[in-house]
Amino acid sequence: MSSNDNKQFSSRLGLVVATVGSAVGLGNIWRFPAEAQANGGAAFLLLYVACVFLLGVPVMLAEFSLGRAGRSDAFGVFHKLSPRGKWWLIGELGILASYTIGCFYMVVTGWTFEYLFNSVTGDLYDGMVQVAAGGDFTNADIFFAEKMHQYISTPWPPIIFTWLVILINIAVLTGGVQKGIERLSNILMPLLFVVLIVLCCLTLTLPGASAGLEWFLKPDFSKINAMTVINAMGQTFFSLSLGMGTLITYASYYPANTRLTFTSVIVAMMSLVVAVLMGFVIFPAVATYGLTDHSLVGATLVFQTLPEVFACLPGTRLWSILFFALLFMAALTSTVSIMEVTIAFLSDRFKLSRAKACVLTLTPLLLLSSICSLSFSSLSDVKLFGMTIFDFLDNFATNILLPVGSIAICVYLGWFAPKGLLHKELTNNGTVRSLLTGVILFIIRYIAPVMISAILIAPLLK
Ligand code: PFF
Repeated sequence: MSSNDNKQFSSRLGLVVATVGSAVGLGNIWRFPAEAQANGGAAFLLLYVACVFLLGVPVMLAEFSLGRAGRSDAFGVFHKLSPRGKWWLIGELGILASYTIGCFYMVVTGWTFEYLFNSVTGDLYDGMVQVAAGGDFTNADIFFAEKMHQYISTPWPPIIFTWLVILINIAVLTGGVQKGIERLSNILMPLLFVVLIVLCCLTLTLPGASAGLEWFLKPDFSKINAMTVINAMGQTFFSLSLGMGTLITYASYYPANTRLTFTSVIVAMMSLVVAVLMGFVIFPAVATYGLTDHSLVGATLVFQTLPEVFACLPGTRLWSILFFALLFMAALTSTVSIMEVTIAFLSDRFKLSRAKACVLTLTPLLLLSSICSLSFSSLSDVKLFGMTIFDFLDNFATNILLPVGSIAICVYLGWFAPKGLLHKELTNNGTVRSLLTGVILFIIRYIAPVMISAILIAPLLK
């Protein structure tokens, strides 16, 4: 095996599956249904689809082109392509963004693992039978809210599960691109689709399925306003893993004959399919059991409302295990892509072995993620700009670093990168046709920077 083998995905399928693995995560499964519910159901879905194809795919192609042309980590790509400028700062920003996201994304992935574990042991539903038998099970809300408190808002259990996720990341990422990232995605992604389809089959046969689907698929255009558009753009960037060097890093492992446009469309479509299927799971379930207004809000949706739904079904534990396994698989393949940005940087720049780079990247997270996790318990009173540490990092990364990173990537590729780079990459050096290069370049140069700026400016106008 040449030393390069482990710096490249082994097949077209492998690279697509790994990139889909990065994109499909908590953003699709958890954030999308909540956003759709709050922003007019199918009206939001239509906007989101438009944002994904008109904005997300071009920005994704910008990242893919830079990564494959530069064949280096997020910092190295800019340094190599434009050695004289300070463009490498964009790469550094990406590394900062990914590491910041890593701090809190690990915690939430830890929660999914904890819920999976407690679904397997039965602890999540333990006590429910007694409560019900005592005639007291009128308010499942309280029961699962208490469970959620126990799993998330006490110091140790969530920290331990977060550490386990970090250790799994070390084990996977030490394996390298093919034997670590690609292998993990090849196993988990097909499983994820199978589980998602099984869950859909269940929820679509529930009595409230048609009411739920109507709720989800009937567009309410009155809810669409400037803020909805901005939310759809934010959702697009987060769910496609844009603006933080992840896709630059992954594309640096793409073989030279990879068709970038085709790959980007497949990744975008898969990410959309998962989001929509999740809508098919969640809305019928919630409609059937007539849950309350707060049912779909944030963490409550997956960690309280859905266990309530499972508790109402025969085979409670099985559904619960399937759902949290789905969530955990989706989140895990995203965490490895988030961490790979820093690992690639450390190993390229400082010529560290992969194992050393992995340990150096992930061990500080044992502490940093624990601090984030404690935002829900001992450190809940510590506030930065009026937010808990967790919320601050989430907002700072998602609403500031990702949009700034995406704008910078577009401006660089559109105006300052070596001439013809996008065309060369989209046509694989002139060997395949790319009819849309002009349109994509136009979007990257003009439309994307302006539209993405709105995400940054909007909160200031509130
Ligand atoms: N796309 C992932 C999700 O939807 O959950 C989150 C994510 C992964 C964001 C990787 C950014 C990233 F680089």
